[in-house]
Amino acid sequence: MKTKAAFFLLLALLSGSVVHADSPLEKQMNRMRRSFKELKKAMEAPVEADKPKYLGWVADLKKASEEAKTMEPEKTEKVPADERKAFLEGYRSKMEESIELTDELGKAIEAGKWTEAKGLIGQINQVQREGHKKYRAEEH
Ligand code: HEM
Repeated sequence: MKTKAAFFLLLALLSGSVVHADSPLEKQMNRMRRSFKELKKAMEAPVEADKPKYLGWVADLKKASEEAKTMEPEKTEKVPADERKAFLEGYRSKMEESIELTDELGKAIEAGKWTEAKGLIGQINQVQREGHKKYRAEEH
């Protein structure tokens, strides 16, 4: 009984980690999620003294977004060949939108304009939703 349980545990582990290795884009997206999550939480009750920490997350979010912008979504392969160029251009311009908002967020934090910063978090959230709807593969 014990070996059977161990076998199924091993199977579950394998199907999660080996069969689905994170693509380079997923790696960057996960990095974006980490810093964006911290920022979202922090902007609920921002503290002037923690600005440097917030700006560090902004810098990380921007760096990961810039890396992500140079990569191709998994879904690209499924797009008809003659639509691929437009698909990738759309993806890059959406990612650029997110980067520009991230820059604005950095400026708002720097200036201690917290209400503006909160608004920008909402806008980045919106761009994320639009980006995922259009460019992320169905099975995700
Ligand atoms: C702050 C903004 C964003 C965050 C926090 C974020 C986060 C994530 C996360 C956690 C994943 C799942 C990674 C995985 O499956 O392991 C993901 C996937 C993905 N995201 Fe984002 N995302 C953001 C913005 C965007 C934008 C703006 C776009 C499009 C322009 C986009 C396109 C994608 C795509 C295409 C995937 C699937 C990965 C692939 O095809 O290889 N994301 N994102």
